[in-house]
Amino acid sequence: MRLKGKKILIGVTASIAAYKIPILVRLLKKEGAEVQVIMTESSRDFVSQLTLATLSGRPAFHLPFNTQDGSWNSHVEFGLWADLMLIAPLSAATLSKMAHGQSDNLLTTTYLSAKCPVYFAPAMDLDMFAHPSTQKNIDTLITYGNHLIASQTGELASGLCGAGRMEEPEKILEIILKHFKKKADFEGKKVLLTAGPTYEAIDPVRFIGNYSSGRMGYAIAHEFAERGAEVILVSGPSNQKVNHPNIQRLGVQSAQQMFEACQNFYNSADIAILAAAVADFRPKEVPTHKIKKEDGLDTIQLVPTVDILKTLGKQKKNQLLIGFALETSNEFENAKRKLQEKNCDAIVLNSLQDAGAGFQHDTNKISIIDKSLQQTTFELKSKSDVASDICDFILQMTKKSN
Ligand code: CTP
Repeated sequence: MRLKGKKILIGVTASIAAYKIPILVRLLKKEGAEVQVIMTESSRDFVSQLTLATLSGRPAFHLPFNTQDGSWNSHVEFGLWADLMLIAPLSAATLSKMAHGQSDNLLTTTYLSAKCPVYFAPAMDLDMFAHPSTQKNIDTLITYGNHLIASQTGELASGLCGAGRMEEPEKILEIILKHFKKKADFEGKKVLLTAGPTYEAIDPVRFIGNYSSGRMGYAIAHEFAERGAEVILVSGPSNQKVNHPNIQRLGVQSAQQMFEACQNFYNSADIAILAAAVADFRPKEVPTHKIKKEDGLDTIQLVPTVDILKTLGKQKKNQLLIGFALETSNEFENAKRKLQEKNCDAIVLNSLQDAGAGFQHDTNKISIIDKSLQQTTFELKSKSDVASDICDFILQMTKKSN
């Protein structure tokens, strides 16, 4: 009964894969979950409403109101009730509506109201699945923080063979179990993390900075905290919010301030992850008064900032030290060089060549290169899913180093 007390809302749309949902409902019920099914009108051509109602033990709704007494099947209440919403199978039509905020039925209005994590499992024929609009809509849902249950390759209802098959119910159950499993696998570990940009003052009102939002670093902080670690988050200017008792956030502005904060915590850290986009240069002189336009400014003389990662690499004792590399060309060569020069145990590579990766996106696509120069490449995912992959990778590293 690994899902005892968990409330799962399943949205079913019109796809032949809907015939697998009764099996999924049974699997979830066997694990102790409470299951509520809502359906689109045409999904009822693919799977019986009565079957789903009987197996879930609750009416399977498809209308926003009850035709007999006119009472409201509140999408708001469904959205608040659920601990997790799963939309499976997700047809191309509903996918498109979800990506564009179109809310013309019980399922799509509930999706828009849902406060809980949302998983979606697309299912459609090969060419529909491959169409750029479908792929774009899937990416859009990921950017909204929804979790993709990737479609599989295999035989399709059309007789064609290819990508577009909904993931099997047993696998979907595994994903849901993984979601709810409280993994305290970093309990007792101290994690030092840098995030966001740094601002290097030109004068009291101007600075040199970069486009980093801090989203990736904050997502990593949150994931470690959720998994039991005590996190010191040294953050440059960022409007990201911290909302976890295990995270202590220290706000800094410049590379020098970030360096000093790291120095205070590095010795006691088990793991240090330097995800910040630190400015490499700072103005040599910073006047105490605002530079006036009429005085003119031909050049700003710059000097290098301290390389925080490289310095921590030199001071390293037992810590696992993880760097980031943001590259626009020669990605792997540059990342490997940084890994070695800065004495890291692994480096997370973002390439700005990859659509949806890097600054200001909700998604990211990374590769991790370890000390033996072995490289693991991940798919484009939401930054919270990328954070989970990074934690899993580091967990494996800590196991190997013990
Ligand atoms: N880094 C750091 N201190 C700096 C510059 C970078 O700690 N002054 C860290 C970053 O946090 C990241 C890694 O070094 O973990 C690589 O940063 P990146 O900007 O990709 O590389 P640089 O070493 O700055 O080299 P370049 O800008 O020439 O690519």
